[in-house]
Amino acid sequence: MTCTHLLDTDTAPFGVLRLPRSILVGSNQRQALAHIAREFGSSALICTDARLAASDELHEIVTALKQQSMTVEVYGETEAELPVPGIMACVDGLRERRIDVVIGVGGGSCMDMAKVVSVLLTHGGEPSDYYGEFAVPGPVLPVIAVPTTAGTGSEVTAIAVVSDPKLGMKMGISSPHIIPAVAVCDPSLTLTCPPALTAATGADAFVHLVESYTAIARQGTPELARERVFIGRNPLTDSIALEGIRLVGRSLVTAYREPGNDKARGDMMVAALYGGMALSNAGTAAAHAIQYPVGALTHTPHGVGVGLLLPYVLRHNFPAIQPQLARIAEALGKDTRDLAVADAARAGIEAVDDILAAIGIPSTLADLGVQEGDLDRIAELSQNSKRLIDNNPVPLDLAGLTAITRAAFEGDRSFRSCH
Ligand SMILES: NC(=O)c1ccc[n+]([C@@H]2O[C@H](COP(=O)([O-])OP(=O)(O)OC[C@H]3O[C@@H](n4cnc5c(N)ncnc54)[C@H](O)[C@@H]3O)[C@@H](O)[C@H]2O)c1
Repeated sequence: MTCTHLLDTDTAPFGVLRLPRSILVGSNQRQALAHIAREFGSSALICTDARLAASDELHEIVTALKQQSMTVEVYGETEAELPVPGIMACVDGLRERRIDVVIGVGGGSCMDMAKVVSVLLTHGGEPSDYYGEFAVPGPVLPVIAVPTTAGTGSEVTAIAVVSDPKLGMKMGISSPHIIPAVAVCDPSLTLTCPPALTAATGADAFVHLVESYTAIARQGTPELARERVFIGRNPLTDSIALEGIRLVGRSLVTAYREPGNDKARGDMMVAALYGGMALSNAGTAAAHAIQYPVGALTHTPHGVGVGLLLPYVLRHNFPAIQPQLARIAEALGKDTRDLAVADAARAGIEAVDDILAAIGIPSTLADLGVQEGDLDRIAELSQNSKRLIDNNPVPLDLAGLTAITRAAFEGDRSFRSCH
């Protein structure tokens, strides 16, 4: 049987798509920001980091907001990976101030900062009050998200990720209330990303797209979107994810090799945006669950960890996701017309391998500094991310997680389970 026979029947007509009310994409769209912000009121808080706070781009944004008769407060000390004490330092200085709109300018850390700050300024308390799904009790101050990396997709997602030093791990706040009101995606802001950052963030976007597209598909009951923020793959997210995968195939390696290539940067900004749309509704799975303990142990970037793990997770999940993998092969430019589905699916995994290798993602957990003696603990801790494990297309128990982790440590890319 060739792949086309199986490919048309693999999802039921049910879907959920929660998104910002406006999304703008295009070079120099940041110049539209001030007018958009003014619609929300006259007082803006910008959350950004030290590098951007000192940049010409941020200076231009602040000037444009002031020209709209807005008062502007800049918090320029957001730290990468968003440690909780930094969030509280920002909020504690602002509790008595009137803020109408919170603008996050930067990578995922700054955009997530804006989301969490808007929750705390609206509902009080501290981040831990809102960990998990649906714990934010109601609407929050509007957030405008302006990404400067093409990676997390946080500009459109219902999640913010913080580092909690008390728990020694990263924690998520997931709620439709924290989806930014507006996303302004200006790829020219990513031209300054050096190759290593382009690789780590691009791999993050790629994994969002592939894991969302290969996630579990659930029965579309009326309760599902009330019970889960991340409902599993569905036709609405599938079409977005597949187009994002196509854009990654076309442009990630070019953006990595030629940082000044506008077209590749534009493609990657849209790919990251699509990754955010897909992950925020379908959800990601095992590569993300295993990365959390790996990241905590090795202090390596999230995108590098998920990118490294993806080839092993896809091989483990192979029996359940062949039609999707065959479509990924096509989206990544492979000619699958005369191939059986299983062969096209293998070609899909190998095409994913090739892109990750071309952008310098290491191929084994040993390369990240993981020791053999760490493997059991990593597998055990991966189970803590229950919502991610539940979203995997094949049920994952400790033995399954251990098998993936060991394969990733040894660099075992055989197709043993691929029948
Ligand atoms: N909310 C979500 O949906 C979501 C999804 C995935 C990851 N995340 C979180 O996002 C964070 C990671 O975000 P990230 O990968 O975008 O990195 P980041 O925001 O942590 O930034 C990493 C570094 O890149 C620099 N940087 C940002 N833009 C730059 C540019 N244009 N040129 C040069 N340097 C630039 C920053 O100053 C910083 O030093 C993590 O905390 C992760 O957990 C959130």
